[in-house]
Amino acid sequence: MQKRFLIPIAAGAFVSTLAAQSPADLRVDGDRLNAHITELARIGATPEGGTNRVAYSDADRQGREYAMTLLRNAKLDVSVDAAGNIHGRRAGSDASLPTIAIGSHIDSVPQGGRFDGQVGSMGAIEVAERLGEARQTLRHPLEVILWANEEGGTIGSHAFASGLTEKQLALVTNSGKTMRDGITFIGGDPSRLAQPLKKRGDLAAYLELHIEQGGILDARHINIGIVEGIVGISQWEVTIEGFANHAGTTPMDQRHDALLAAARYVDAVHRVVTSVPGRQVGTVGRIQAFPGAYNVIPGKVVTTLEIRDLDAAKIQTLFEKVKVEVAAIEKATGTTFTFQSTNTIVPAPTDMRFRTIIGDTAKRLGFTTNLMPSGAGHDAQEVAPIAPVGMIFIPSRAGISHSPKEFSLPADITNGANVLLQTLLAIDGK
Ligand code: HGY
Ligand code: MN
Ligand code: MN
Repeated sequence: MQKRFLIPIAAGAFVSTLAAQSPADLRVDGDRLNAHITELARIGATPEGGTNRVAYSDADRQGREYAMTLLRNAKLDVSVDAAGNIHGRRAGSDASLPTIAIGSHIDSVPQGGRFDGQVGSMGAIEVAERLGEARQTLRHPLEVILWANEEGGTIGSHAFASGLTEKQLALVTNSGKTMRDGITFIGGDPSRLAQPLKKRGDLAAYLELHIEQGGILDARHINIGIVEGIVGISQWEVTIEGFANHAGTTPMDQRHDALLAAARYVDAVHRVVTSVPGRQVGTVGRIQAFPGAYNVIPGKVVTTLEIRDLDAAKIQTLFEKVKVEVAAIEKATGTTFTFQSTNTIVPAPTDMRFRTIIGDTAKRLGFTTNLMPSGAGHDAQEVAPIAPVGMIFIPSRAGISHSPKEFSLPADITNGANVLLQTLLAIDGK
């Protein structure tokens, strides 16, 4: 790891060995980066060794405070925008150039891991701090952006590039707060989100480092993933209405059992999504039966549906197939289903030039690479409509994520941050 020493250049004047280095040889301080990830993981830490820092929670606010301290230590101008996204800014040498942004998120899923988003966020801060220490001023203004509420559906980045609707602001989030109250809680201003905060041309580029979350890089012992495209994600709240009745006195053939319908629905989703070739996925992640008692036939079930693929049309086709299955379930069980769309994130290709730069950079640093799609959603896909984006993956052990068992090696984290640093310098120089 590159230690920084001070070289005397004149009486009382010193220049750091970093500043004396050519930019192409600059490397991040991997120990410091991994120490910051460990520190951040203490906030919202769970007994299982994971992280519970859902957006708009007290732990989220504490994590944000910690990150803003690191941004200030890196000598960046810190601000929070109307959506609650945290910005750390440093001017470039050419004020006429649009900003280059790097970043990720620090909120987690309920009972999540210590690396999802945290690696890219702490990595971006480390890159900015290293450039500052090396007195390496970019041509473009540089911004580290820590997006708010990524796990709730890339909300902060969506507001940034596309704005938010009243319907979205009214949705109840994992924290229990509405989106509106949550954004206010973290210092945003929901009254200013009807319009996007930024437009095409405001950003020259956006780069995001992230753990792969899947197991391809780990299984094939590859150092760096070059992300080709990010899947589209469509999410629905699903309500099944039946008729609550006495479990003892209602014959089996006279029931309108919402939970029986739900059980068949979950199976139908699996059958539909696996019925056509491809990498599409479908998930029923949450389910609740009401009133929820031994001796009462469930009259209502509230559950979810999520479908993902790189092709938005395929997501829609699969959804239509699920609806056909549901019509048969409704008939057979005497229940009714309603699907309320709660989030639609469009698939996004990354920028071809950036893929090449990331690949060349990784190879120059001695790393093996793999070009691959992202099965996970990311803030980068929300920024893609207004700016060219690039994403860098590092291995996730055994492809585990959204779990306390999520893990990435410190060395892989350092490698990823060095690819981010050198890719940023390459894009800035272009
Ligand atoms: O859901 C996702 O894919 C991401 O981790 N937010
Ligand atoms: Mn993430
Ligand atoms: Mn995630």
